[in-house]
Amino acid sequence: MKHINLRIQPGNPQTRIAPELYGHFSEHLGRCIYQGIYVGPDSPIPNTDGVRNDVIEAFRQIRMPVLRWPGGCFSDDYHWRDGIGAPELRPKRVNAFWGAVTETNAFGTHEFFTLCEQIGCQPYLAVNVGSGTVREVSDWIEYLTYDGDSDLANLRRKNGREQPWKLKYVGIGNENWGGGGNMRPEYYADEFRRYQTYCRDYGGNQLYKIACGANGDDYRWTDVLMASVPTALMQGLSLHYYTVPSGIWEKKGSATDFTDSEYYETVARAGFMETLLQRHTGIMDKYDPDCKTGLIVDEWGNWYDPAEGENPAFLFQQSTMRDAVTAACTLNLFHRYSRRVRMANLAQAVNVLQAILLTEGAALLKTPTYHVFDLYKGHQGGIPAKITCDDARTNAAPQLPLLSCSASVSGNTLTLTAVNCALDEDAELAVSIEGFAGKHASAQILFADSCRAANTFDAPEIVRLQEHPVRLEGSLLHLTLPPCAVAAVTVCADSSV
Ligand code: AHR
Repeated sequence: MKHINLRIQPGNPQTRIAPELYGHFSEHLGRCIYQGIYVGPDSPIPNTDGVRNDVIEAFRQIRMPVLRWPGGCFSDDYHWRDGIGAPELRPKRVNAFWGAVTETNAFGTHEFFTLCEQIGCQPYLAVNVGSGTVREVSDWIEYLTYDGDSDLANLRRKNGREQPWKLKYVGIGNENWGGGGNMRPEYYADEFRRYQTYCRDYGGNQLYKIACGANGDDYRWTDVLMASVPTALMQGLSLHYYTVPSGIWEKKGSATDFTDSEYYETVARAGFMETLLQRHTGIMDKYDPDCKTGLIVDEWGNWYDPAEGENPAFLFQQSTMRDAVTAACTLNLFHRYSRRVRMANLAQAVNVLQAILLTEGAALLKTPTYHVFDLYKGHQGGIPAKITCDDARTNAAPQLPLLSCSASVSGNTLTLTAVNCALDEDAELAVSIEGFAGKHASAQILFADSCRAANTFDAPEIVRLQEHPVRLEGSLLHLTLPPCAVAAVTVCADSSV
C-alpha cells in the first residue's frame, strides 16, 4: 500500500476543459460504420433511420460532444456526392484503404448529420484533400449550410433536408504527410491556405478550420504549419498519436494476451503523449502566444495486432482494463493542456481499434474504455483545478508514476479522477481541497481482478462501474484505490445532493 497526499487548489477561471476533449471518431473502416453504427432502416436490429438504437443510447449516456467522420484515410478517397440521394442509386466504390471491400455509400451525408442530431453531438467533417478538389469541398459546405436559393441547397432540400445544418468543425485533409497525399509540410501548408479560402461561412454558420497536423513527434511539421499559416486562417492544428505497446508497427502485440511488463510498457508509451503535448504546444506558443489556434488530437488510442480470425484490414481488437488505464491517464493529461488542446477524438467509436463499443449482430457491449468516458463526463466544461501530489512510483516499473489524477470544478461540483497504474499495490489517497467547500462526496470505480479483464459477449459486465467508499472530513478526502483501477469522486458543495 502506498500513501499519497494530494492537494487541489482553484485553477484559472478563464480556462475550460473543452467538452470536445471527449470526442470520438468514426471511419468507413471494418465494422465501425456498417454493422457497428448503421444497420439500415430495414434491419431487424432496433434502429432509428438505420442507426442502431443501442449505439445512440450509449453515445448519449457519455455525452459524446463531437464525432469525426468519414475518416481517417478513407476521407482522402471519399467523394461526398456518392453518398447523397436515393440509396439504391448510390454508386458502389472500393474502400481501397481498408481491405478493398465494396463501399455501398448507404451511409452518407444525411445519415451522418441525422446521427449527430440523434446523439446530440457536433459533426466534425474530414474533407478530401488527397484525391479531391477545392470545388468539391466548397460545394459540400454550400450543400450543407447554405440557406438561400442555389442548386446545391435545393438539392439538399430535394434529398429531404429543408433547413441547412450547422457545421462547425472542418478538417482540411487527413494525414497528408502519408495516406492523404504524401505531401511535404511546405506544400500542404499552401494547400491548406487554398482549401480553407473556399470553405465559406453561410448565414449564421461559422466554420472552425482544422489543418492536418503532425504524425507523433514530427515537430518540424508543426513548426512549418505555424510559420506558414496565419492563425486567423487556421483555428485548429491536429496531431495523431497511437500507442503501440512494442513500439514496432509490424508486431505491435496482442490486445488481450500480454505480460505485466508489457502492461507497464503500454502505460509508459501512452504517457509519451505528455512529451508530445509539451513539445507541440511549445512550438505553437512561439508563434501564437495567445492560443488562437487550438491543438486538436483527432486520433489517439492503443493499436494492437488484429484479433485472430478477423480480417486484418478491419482493425478489430478487444479492449481490457489496460486500455481503461491508458485512456484515463491520457484524459487527465489533456486537462492539463486544456489551454491549448481544444478537441481530442479517440480512435475509433465502434469495432475498430480502441473502441468504446463492440457489436456482434444484435448484441452490443461496452468496453472498459467506454466506462472511463462515462466516469469522466463530469469534467466536460469544467474549470481545471491545480492538482499536485507526492511522487509515488510503481514498484515494477519505477520510471512510471503510480498515480495519474485530475480535478475540475463545474458550478457547485468538484470532480476528481484518479488512476492507480500499479498492478501490485493499493494507493491510499489523502486529498486536501482548497477554495471549495465540499459537503458531500461519492465515488465510482472501474476495476477488475486483472489488467487483462475484458467484457465479452458471453460476459459483458465483467468490467463495470461500481460505487466505491470515500470519506470527506472537512476539507480532507480519503479513498483507497485497488491496483489497476480508475475512480471518479464527485464532491458537492450542497449537502442536500
Ligand atoms: O484510425 C485508423 C487510421 O489510422 C486512420 O484512418 C488514419 O488516419 C490513421 O493512420
